[in-house]
Amino acid sequence: MNYSIPDTIIDDIRDRSDLVDIVSETVSLKKAGNSFKGLCPFHPEKTPSFSVSSEKQVYHCFGCGAGGNVFHFIRETQGLSFVDAVKHLAEKSGIVLPEPKRNENYDPGEKERVRSINANACQIFVDQLRNPQQGQIARDYLNARGFDQKALDTYEIGYALPSWSALISRLEKMSKVTRAQMDFAGLIKKKEDRDDYYDRFRNRIIFPLKDQQGVIVGFAGRAIKDEDIPKYLNSPETLLYKKSRYLFGLDQARSAIRKNDSTLLVEGYFDQIRATVNGIANTVATCGTALTSQQILLLKNLSENVTLVFDSDPAGQSAALKGFELLIDHGMKVKILIMPDGQDPDSYILENGSEQFLQKVKEAQPFLEFHILNIISKGDINNPAGRTEIANHVLPLLAKIRNSVERAEWIKFLAERARLDESALLSEMKKNVHLQRPKMEAYKENVPSKMNPETYLAHLMLSGGQNAIETIKSKVALEEFLDTRMHKIADLLYGMVADGRTIRIDSVLDMTDDPEVASQITQMGLTPIQFDDPKQAMVDCIAAVKRASAEGKIKNLKSLRNRAIEAGEIQQSQEFQIKLKELETALRAS
Ligand code: UTP
Ligand code: MN
Repeated sequence: MNYSIPDTIIDDIRDRSDLVDIVSETVSLKKAGNSFKGLCPFHPEKTPSFSVSSEKQVYHCFGCGAGGNVFHFIRETQGLSFVDAVKHLAEKSGIVLPEPKRNENYDPGEKERVRSINANACQIFVDQLRNPQQGQIARDYLNARGFDQKALDTYEIGYALPSWSALISRLEKMSKVTRAQMDFAGLIKKKEDRDDYYDRFRNRIIFPLKDQQGVIVGFAGRAIKDEDIPKYLNSPETLLYKKSRYLFGLDQARSAIRKNDSTLLVEGYFDQIRATVNGIANTVATCGTALTSQQILLLKNLSENVTLVFDSDPAGQSAALKGFELLIDHGMKVKILIMPDGQDPDSYILENGSEQFLQKVKEAQPFLEFHILNIISKGDINNPAGRTEIANHVLPLLAKIRNSVERAEWIKFLAERARLDESALLSEMKKNVHLQRPKMEAYKENVPSKMNPETYLAHLMLSGGQNAIETIKSKVALEEFLDTRMHKIADLLYGMVADGRTIRIDSVLDMTDDPEVASQITQMGLTPIQFDDPKQAMVDCIAAVKRASAEGKIKNLKSLRNRAIEAGEIQQSQEFQIKLKELETALRAS
């Protein structure tokens, strides 16, 4: 891995950052045995399956499998890169990082390259929009929609020419960059039949998509004319752009969300821009995709309050309902503001000004109030069947509310408005709450599944450190680990002792990019095995692993031999037979 920060400093930062403290900033933890438990921030749940070990400085969720060390936690919950997570923690613990050394041979790495290609492309698009002739159509369009130069500059809005190759040739003139690299950055596409490329964005207004730090990770392009083409076109997923973790405008909105202790969540690019340039800075846009847990996490870190601003059409309302369910699963407090028919925040603010829009935001209804009243208005409260139907509709949603006092309040509200019996609703609700409990409660974390000798060996290596690893390494070859994950763990640990690195479970995690392997390691860290006699266990497991591997080889050789016999290759089959005998003798002797 290519870290620009020296390992010794990373270790210092790790030592000074207590995972339990860091996690406690976002998750409320309770002591449970040797570790701490809480509700997992990485997936919705009602009963805690997220564990943090203070001793080992790792976390693991027994529900969704998320696992890692303090750097992973910051990275995942704040949407940062590894290096930025290290920087963040360095600042917290008062460690000053050395200036990164850059020399001639310094390879900035793929991410850095994609960043720089994006930055150059952005510059090209912006220049094209400013160009008196080339950019005129796009400028006219934007001006007609009421965006002034200041708005265009703030967002670095640009224009992609109506050409198949303008971007390619301008990027090539600007820096040493190959077409394959432009493709990798998502800016151009390969032609189907030939080894050539064309511009992805053509004749479109271009919005650079910036991450929380303001780094351009991708682009969105809006068609200028109403043609038979998609209105918006986005960069594909790239090394930098992950749609499910992206919220448009978060770089601009972060501090305002904190300050206001609330987020306005709108649907479109223009909605976000219009709100922001009119001083409503705590606005971010989902950009037409269904809300995801990762997006919610980014927001939850800044504030637990969110107001959904949606169109009045049925599509808008059903999107709002889906978003709402996920949001309360994550413990967010949700309000909703429905725009008048045919309006979106962009057009509303343009017509009525920001004051009036802010007034509407102030009057936004708690989502449940809106939802319950909406269902009642569509149902029939004048007969018992209609009232029951309303209750059946609303109860599953109420069952998702974690706080029982709050839940009781909403039941009371529903009872009053739909003329239902409160105590009957309460007892119905008990059934619902019960049904919604996640199945993983049945999971017994003390009995790790699929325990086999290879897993035991991995446990022994992780807990026994350098000596244990060296002993096992001298006896068991890497290819004798047949389980893919255990193979990867052994590979990692063998490599670390060879490099003379200290084996600590939290630092081992820095050596892998594979979330499955990380999850396996953290799971083992949080469910250590107490061997009565670790030495004997090691001897037995080594023998068992070697036996299983030899048996596998024998089986393989047998089938090779049989195939050779069937094909009439006598000499081949005899060679296999000899090897087979050797292996069988060795196995019996072991
Ligand atoms: P809308 O169709 O409501 O567009 O889509 P809009 O934001 O009001 O855009 P303007 O005002 O007509 O220019 C809402 C959002 O859904 C995404 C975009 O993020 C858009 O802002 N979208 C929409 C797409 O990604 N692709 C599409 O083809 C359409
Ligand atoms: Mn619009």
